[in-house]
Amino acid sequence: MSELKVFTTVKEMQAYAAAQKQAGKTIGLCPTMGALHEGHMTLMRAARQACDIVIASVFVNPVQFGPNEDYDKYPRQFEADCAKLAAEGVDAVFHPEPAEMYPDGYGTYITVENGITDVLCGARRPGHFRGVATVVTKLMNITRADKAFFGQKDAQQVAVVRRFVADLNLPVEVVMVPICREASGLARSSRNAYMSEAEKQAALVLSRSLRAAKEAYAGGERQAAALKAAVQQVLATEPLARVDYVDLYTYPALQVTDSVSEPCLLAIAVYIGQTRLIDNIILGE
Ligand code: PAF
Repeated sequence: MSELKVFTTVKEMQAYAAAQKQAGKTIGLCPTMGALHEGHMTLMRAARQACDIVIASVFVNPVQFGPNEDYDKYPRQFEADCAKLAAEGVDAVFHPEPAEMYPDGYGTYITVENGITDVLCGARRPGHFRGVATVVTKLMNITRADKAFFGQKDAQQVAVVRRFVADLNLPVEVVMVPICREASGLARSSRNAYMSEAEKQAALVLSRSLRAAKEAYAGGERQAAALKAAVQQVLATEPLARVDYVDLYTYPALQVTDSVSEPCLLAIAVYIGQTRLIDNIILGE
């Protein structure tokens, strides 16, 4: 196994990617903001299986955070991240400073304007997906990715990435990797680190609530209102939980629907104390 290469400049990263392409290798990109956990490792493994070269990016992208969000306190632990990437056999990590990605005079942003960024997290976090689309486009270009790997926990993000990749004719295949959960059911997230043990316990209500909807669906329920009510009923049992949204849309078009007659995303965002967590299931696949 070769050693993990660390690149901090666009130029170095581009040179490495160009050399790999020249050698006829395929490149898999796993974009991350670091604070890596087992969920990220499932992306690395999927990329390893599908591509010759795996490049991870570790970049807390300032452009996708709102003014009152957690950009400053977002966990940064690059050395520990590198150890995990090396142990997983990742070939290279791209870890630029914000000024490297957005130098003075920077002025180009990608916005997806077909409505899919106006719902769910897009509605609650104005500008978030503009920041995601911009950085992911840049990362795909810089690393010359053939395939890019994203977790289903951010299912709206995957829909947005798939949309701009298709609209801009980017030569990248977008791969969605299933949600990675702890044995308790809690979806793995870098933001789980913000929670106390009591809050982590309370956070189990998210996966429990989605399980209730899944069971209702398995029992024949197809009405969106009833499926959302099944989730809300369980969430209401947890005093530490404050619901941001419980919503159901067709997936990946994210259109409003009354019933599940095609694949639909049942997505939730819930505050546990100060920590905003998201989780989802896809029904009707
Ligand atoms: O999902 C994330 O961690 C981020 O939104 C991403 C895709 C790395 C872009 O900054």
